[in-house]
Amino acid sequence: MNQSAKSPLLKIDDVSKIFHIREGFSTKEFHAVDSATVTIDADKPEILAIVGESGSGKTTLARMVLGMEDPSVGVLQYKDRVLAELSNKEMRNWFYKEVQPVFQDPFAAFSPLKRIDHYLYETVKNYKMVSRKNKEMDKYIDQVLQEVGLTFAEIKGRYPNELSGGQAQRVAIARALITKPSLIVADEPVSMLDASLRMSVVNMFRKLKDENEVSVIYITHDLATAFYAGDRVAVMLRGWIVEMGPAEQVLGNPLHPYTQNLKISIPTIKSSEEWKERVDLAVVETDEYTRTGCKFAGRCKHVMDICHDNIPPNIVTEGRTVKCFLYDESIESSQKEMIEPTS
Ligand SMILES: Nc1ncnc2c1ncn2[C@@H]1O[C@H](COP(=O)(O)OP(=O)(O)O)[C@@H](O)[C@H]1O
Ligand SMILES: [Mg+2]
Repeated sequence: MNQSAKSPLLKIDDVSKIFHIREGFSTKEFHAVDSATVTIDADKPEILAIVGESGSGKTTLARMVLGMEDPSVGVLQYKDRVLAELSNKEMRNWFYKEVQPVFQDPFAAFSPLKRIDHYLYETVKNYKMVSRKNKEMDKYIDQVLQEVGLTFAEIKGRYPNELSGGQAQRVAIARALITKPSLIVADEPVSMLDASLRMSVVNMFRKLKDENEVSVIYITHDLATAFYAGDRVAVMLRGWIVEMGPAEQVLGNPLHPYTQNLKISIPTIKSSEEWKERVDLAVVETDEYTRTGCKFAGRCKHVMDICHDNIPPNIVTEGRTVKCFLYDESIESSQKEMIEPTS
């Protein structure tokens, strides 16, 4: 079998990003992303939702996947290529055609002084998607806009300030689709939109996955849309992925005490209907980044002695991976008996 046929679409292999923070005259290191490992299969498009409170490292991870930031440790691989080994030309001509970003603020991507169609034409030309004949470009752009529920007639000649937030985000997604990418990395793409528009954008990602076979990394701090849109969910806490697996398992029956905490504000999670209400994760200011042992130990009601000085293992159980000593069968049950049962 051909080696490249077996390569995953994306492999994030034990990746960390270390930043330095200044403390008086010295600097202190911390891991904004700490030993993240995620694989997205090439033959099965999926939506991977990444959730976590503000500062958990979601954007830093996204920036590394997009090649905007190099990892301090570990390797990112797209198809059969290591990102760090791609030349600028390969990045430009190949990688950025395959992997497209969608950001939080749709207007930030567009200059207020340029007509919005300028960006669409530019992308078509840069990636030589069709010939430069106006008629062909217009037809192609119209086709792509229709995939996000717009037509070129609605957009052509207009300036960004003439579009609503929802329309602008649709255009931003359409622009990402022009290159026929295999992976879209969307960092908080709906957090600036009204609740009513959120679901329609999230539904669009689902449709694109089903019909265009695009995989999407959907980053959000909104659990409702993560549950609704995500095939899989990864929960981040201070740089760690603490729980990852199918959305039903991870958000429907969370095992990590942190994920369980997130769920507390949500009364029922039995059906997707009940998840439609927006739920924000609490922002907690702590020095959890640099703590030894488990980063959640200071907030965890199940904390054990071992958690203070040791990094929890990734345990595979009940259809997901969970980074927690509670599920480590080698820990003596006498320690765990001290734990109060969950609810
Ligand atoms: N370039 C940088 N230099 C130093 N610290 C950074 C940099 N970028 C992000 N951080 C810090 O890394 C942590 C994770 O940030 P980020 O990835 O933006 O999290 P999230 O997207 O989950 O809110 C935060 O504490 C943030 O302040
Ligand atoms: Mg962010």
